[in-house]
Amino acid sequence: MRLNDKLLGALGDSVRTPFYYYDMALLGKTLDEINRHTAGWPATVHYALKANGNPRLLAEILRHGMGADLVSGGEMEAALEAGFKPEMMAFAGVGKTDEEINLGLKHDVGCFNVESVPELEVINHLAGAMGTTARVALRVNPDIDAHTHRYITTGTADNKFGIALESLEQVIKLALSLPHIHLRGLHFHIGSQITQMQPYAMLCDTVNGLLDHYEKKGITFELINLGGGLGIDYGDPDGHPMPDFEAFFGIFKHGLKLRPGQQVHFELGRSIVGQCGSLITRVTYVKENRNKRFVIVDAGMTDLIRPALYEAHHKVENLTSTAAETQTYDVVGPVCESSDVFAHDCLLPLTARGDVIAVRSAGAYGESMASHYNMRRLPGCIFSNA
Ligand code: LLP
Repeated sequence: MRLNDKLLGALGDSVRTPFYYYDMALLGKTLDEINRHTAGWPATVHYALKANGNPRLLAEILRHGMGADLVSGGEMEAALEAGFKPEMMAFAGVGKTDEEINLGLKHDVGCFNVESVPELEVINHLAGAMGTTARVALRVNPDIDAHTHRYITTGTADNKFGIALESLEQVIKLALSLPHIHLRGLHFHIGSQITQMQPYAMLCDTVNGLLDHYEKKGITFELINLGGGLGIDYGDPDGHPMPDFEAFFGIFKHGLKLRPGQQVHFELGRSIVGQCGSLITRVTYVKENRNKRFVIVDAGMTDLIRPALYEAHHKVENLTSTAAETQTYDVVGPVCESSDVFAHDCLLPLTARGDVIAVRSAGAYGESMASHYNMRRLPGCIFSNA
């Protein structure tokens, strides 16, 4: 069934737009597919809550046995509320506050992903004060270019993330010497919306090199966390409702030289929830200026900021127009910013006030990045039956 049929069944005239529509069946299938490709391998997927913390989605993700990847105390509270076990939580982030670290220590989260020496020292100190030990992985900055948008590439030497390769040995030695730190392993994350597999193959080489190097020095790791970042097809969400998990996991299955007993962790966000969500909005006005025809919708950059922030492309569809004739429009929101544009020069069937528009592939970093700018209401949400 296409989005139109599924969604329009759920959408009465009284439903207030804009809202996020989540296809729970697609989410379930995506999670099944991930489990199929990680079965029989010592792999755990931690869902990156930053992509979308909607409680209904979290319940479905938990039901499929995933853990949680968190970057704030707020996300930790949401994950606990949803029922994720602390053992299955990884707490990441370059600037964890003392309060957040204490929350993680209190619940004894499975792993703190640590990004610097000062952070390691603070965690050691706070764990000591609490009479406990923190389980830790060190985030390594592998200096690999993920060939994605510069705002969402994270693994190059110029980024703020991780510990530089040249200081790693020193930091590992420090971690091993601190009494309230239990060093579990190494963590990597090279960026987001990665659509080529080659950066992941390079990551395997880097990891293998590091494992060999440290093994010679008598240092072994129980855990290798490879991060997330697998991209989705924004251009053709119906043609590719799921990313190529086989290729993604295959790279690591074949490329990584894991040691006996070693576990691998992944932190996938977008590839799990991206395609199951669409932002649904109604046309308020259609207007023409000298050079352009505009479709003005009731959703704006406050509901989905990706196009305004990253010039990200999302497929835009008119779900209700039955016109055979098409027209080129800029589809824009009501917010007082020129960047509040969902699509430039978008070919749609003739569009009129009241038509229902879908902005596709908006399940990741849509609802979770919504804001009240212009004192607007946050978008609602509707779920298809799973
Ligand atoms: N692990 C770490 C350490 C991360 O920084 C991220 C995302 C993930 C995992 C999950 O990555 P994913 O599988 O979702 O690509 N707001 C941007 C994306 C920011 C990604 C931040 N880090 C966007 O809308 O494209």
